[in-house]
Amino acid sequence: MSNDAGDPAPLIETVVTTTGSDGVVNCAAMGVRWGEEELAFWPFNATRTLRNLRAHGEAVVHLTDDVLLFVQAALGHPHPPTRPANRVAGAVIEEVSAWREVVVTEITPSADELPRSRVRARVVAAGTGTRPPLGLCRARHAAVEASILASRLRWLGADRVWTELGRLQELVDKTAGPRERAAMDYVRAYVAERA
Ligand SMILES: Cc1cc2nc3c(=O)[nH]c(=O)nc-3n(C[C@H](O)[C@H](O)[C@H](O)COP(=O)(O)O)c2cc1C
Repeated sequence: MSNDAGDPAPLIETVVTTTGSDGVVNCAAMGVRWGEEELAFWPFNATRTLRNLRAHGEAVVHLTDDVLLFVQAALGHPHPPTRPANRVAGAVIEEVSAWREVVVTEITPSADELPRSRVRARVVAAGTGTRPPLGLCRARHAAVEASILASRLRWLGADRVWTELGRLQELVDKTAGPRERAAMDYVRAYVAERA
């Protein structure tokens, strides 16, 4: 994904909803190359997201600064309130800043060595939600980074993850509101259970 000048579109951290063949809505945190007409993202081959997209090539991609929802979508299986999407058979999360409904156009193996696939998807509808974005927040970014570390616990090892979480916790202590604190607590509980 790139603009007319050939610069890549930024990778935006989103929450992607897909629907399983059993009708269950799955929420997953996912980095998405954010174009106006097309999005690209790279689900790992073992994810429900990819399984759902192969069975039913439609999704809703949400922008949110609700870091608790994001962290839960990265490390767990949240079920936030949703309503039916307009143009695809999918689910729109109610409390987000914005969303795009997309139809998959191509699924190919990823160009890197990682066991993931590249999904290209065409934007067919878009909307804004009930949660206007508040802007930059160090505690939110810290919680996002913390969730990445937690998701790599097996490769990084518990010592390294706890050290990095300690550094990020300082930012949360300085700048968080309740939602950011809850997100960081969720990450710490996830790591404590598995370390
Ligand atoms: C910041 C961040 C970015 C992520 N980006 C991706 C991604 O691009 N692809 C992916 O498969 N998982 C990504 N994850 C992990 C997924 O959110 C997590 O594995 C989730 O459970 C998806 O699996 P599911 O589809 O089985 O629910 C990311 C996690 C975080 C914290």
